[in-house]
Amino acid sequence: MTQSQPKSRLAKTVDSLKPSGIRRFFDLAASMEGVISLGVGEPDFVTPWRVREACISSLERGYTAYTSNAGLLSLRKEIDHYLQDRFSLHYNPETEMLITVGASEAIDIALRAILNPGDEVLVVEPCYVSYEPVIRLAGGVPVFLHTTAENNFKLTAEELEEKISRKTKAIIFCYPNNPTGSTMTHEEWEQLLPIIKRYDLLVLSDEIYAELTFAKRHESIASLPGMKERTILISGFSKAFAMTGWRLGYICAPPDLLTGMLKIHQYTMLCAPSMVQMAAIEALKYGMDDVDRMVESYKQRRNFMVEALCEIGLACHQPEGAFYVFPSIASTGLTASEFAERLLLEEKVAVVPGDVFGDSGRDHIRCSYATSLAQLEEAMERMGRFVKRLSQS
Ligand SMILES: Cc1ncc(COP(=O)(O)O)c(C=O)c1O
Repeated sequence: MTQSQPKSRLAKTVDSLKPSGIRRFFDLAASMEGVISLGVGEPDFVTPWRVREACISSLERGYTAYTSNAGLLSLRKEIDHYLQDRFSLHYNPETEMLITVGASEAIDIALRAILNPGDEVLVVEPCYVSYEPVIRLAGGVPVFLHTTAENNFKLTAEELEEKISRKTKAIIFCYPNNPTGSTMTHEEWEQLLPIIKRYDLLVLSDEIYAELTFAKRHESIASLPGMKERTILISGFSKAFAMTGWRLGYICAPPDLLTGMLKIHQYTMLCAPSMVQMAAIEALKYGMDDVDRMVESYKQRRNFMVEALCEIGLACHQPEGAFYVFPSIASTGLTASEFAERLLLEEKVAVVPGDVFGDSGRDHIRCSYATSLAQLEEAMERMGRFVKRLSQS
């Protein structure tokens, strides 16, 4: 064989993925002193002690082996009780549930289980940064659905119907939403569901922020009439229980889809860590008061942030969930990236430019308020100073 041109050692799909827009900023922020970060998407609470203690105790008792591929049946049963109690949803723990390594693994294997090369997946923008690359890695094609701040970033029936093609296989929803904090009302879902059913779409519903709602209890799309059989429900422990580093999530789905996902999981992951699964049982059984306490604290901070941003002059809708605000920076005349970069360099406040979540987020920044109130106050003072200077220049 003659020597040919050097080949790329990476697969084409991997090679073409863009590095995360969030990472670039945080590498810069990490290299600076005295930065207040409103950038990270994780709770500022340490995991409640009872959960940590349950993990320690399970290690002491020697729970160090693999569990069943689908996860501990006792945990799956507990998740079923929890979902019934909080969201009026029931899943068979034996056939409709799978414990994963974070919601991240759940999203990955759900997409890999359902997509054939070239299948289109609808994604509502602005959206969590992982959806696009994970769809591409699964051989799918993301198709973005646009939303606007005027409409509180809610998907309209017209936009949905316009983007459906013969190749559309599924749609991804994330409510409460990262990055906007928007949620959906029953009436808003009712506008979309007939279209989803008419075109026989699968729904991948990322409900990782389901516990973090401030006005009323989250309503899962899977609990709406005729939706459970076409919905892959994804959730986890990272946000509600402040357990990001533990890496525990789950999938609830119809048995035929679940069987497919379980195949991928069993060959790639085997199972989620056993002592973490033990701790999660404790979290679900006895930890709901801890969750409610954290949600109350997020609500106070949400109220503070919305008021402070409006005072600064950055228009901002009131987010009903998650722990993000998504104000518009259009009035400053800067692009979101320019705003974020200058705010970081001039006032040492790190936020995420909205366009990393898709084009619909172009004139916005994402500020996480999962940071102490004292830090938020200081950050708002610095941001106010920055915006004032911009308006005077
Ligand atoms: C919308 C959304 N889904 C999934 C995840 C990942 O969650 P996990 O830590 O369970 O993998 C995140 C993390 O930020 C998220 O914001």
